[in-house]
Amino acid sequence: MASEKSRVLVIGGTGYIGRFIVAASAREGHPTAVLVRDAAPADPAKAAVLQGFRDAGVTLVKGDIYDHESLVAAIKSADVVISAVGSQQIPDQTRIIAAIKEAGNVKRFFPSEFGNDVDHVNAVEPAKSIFAVKARIRRAIEAEEIPYTYVPSNFFAGYFLPTLGQVGVTGPPTDKVLILGDGNVKAVFSVEDDVGTYTAKAVDDPRTLNKTLYLRPPNNTLSHNELVSLWEKKHGKTLEMVYIPEDEVLKQIQESPVPLNIVLAISHSAWVKGDHTNFQIDPSFGVEATELYPDVKYVTVDEYLNRFL
Ligand SMILES: NC(=O)c1ccc[n+]([C@@H]2O[C@H](COP(=O)([O-])OP(=O)(O)OC[C@H]3O[C@@H](n4cnc5c(N)ncnc54)[C@H](OP(=O)(O)O)[C@@H]3O)[C@@H](O)[C@H]2O)c1
Repeated sequence: MASEKSRVLVIGGTGYIGRFIVAASAREGHPTAVLVRDAAPADPAKAAVLQGFRDAGVTLVKGDIYDHESLVAAIKSADVVISAVGSQQIPDQTRIIAAIKEAGNVKRFFPSEFGNDVDHVNAVEPAKSIFAVKARIRRAIEAEEIPYTYVPSNFFAGYFLPTLGQVGVTGPPTDKVLILGDGNVKAVFSVEDDVGTYTAKAVDDPRTLNKTLYLRPPNNTLSHNELVSLWEKKHGKTLEMVYIPEDEVLKQIQESPVPLNIVLAISHSAWVKGDHTNFQIDPSFGVEATELYPDVKYVTVDEYLNRFL
């Protein structure tokens, strides 16, 4: 029946962004399952996440991406597979692709993305190689002719707003603020709950089939200077702006240890190169989430910053 909601399997559903996707999928009325490696974890926080899933009517399916049979069995009970695996498993999503091919029933696959659009990046190392791995997964999906949706959500609010977009500091600015480049390049923030909502809405939407679903909420598309102004207005206090020229940013990337060099290089891609916003979304390859789903009341950066007052 056309009106029936697809059954969704989330792989990596217990992770940072995965749990928002699981919650949203259930909320949107999809029969939702999560592939879990351990259904009775000793870690109380993890156990609480799983209990939350059960309470929301989500099914826990035991499996592992490195256990092919378990993966195929889980996939056979789903219509749509969403992967939210973390950085270590991103290259190994070839295993999910192989299992989807074998299962033969999947209507759509969302690989683990939820960051930059990896087909439109001007990043330096080490971000360059990290983005290239995600791009290779895209090409593998397309080569196997698996229907897909890619969801680049740009900066997660929870990762980048607590420091007001600064790298290498632990909290919001009190007197000065570090800005990569000239602060005039626009980047995009998405609140995690909204990443889940837009992803879940795309599951059965023919407009997102074999497309990239960009999250570019207009109110959350801001230059670093604009972001700082917003903060200053809320605090009634002016901050000293410390602009770090690109040459110096590149030097810092080379000299910083892991993972600071990764965060710096990802931030350089967004704040200096403008990779969140420096290209048009052409209908041949992409759609924008807030345009497709105008009824979703997404959380704005302005609202989000109130959490830190
Ligand atoms: N835009 C941004 O600001 C931003 C920030 C961070 C991440 N991201 C992106 O978001 C995506 C997800 O990252 P994340 O940080 O949310 O991931 P994460 O928290 O590290 O979670 C990883 C998930 O993968 C699961 N997993 C690990 N090994 C597995 C295996 N062998 N079989 C099945 N599942 C396995 C984990 O399960 P267990 O619970 O069993 O360990 C967990 O659910 C990535 O593509 C990442 O690049 C974007």
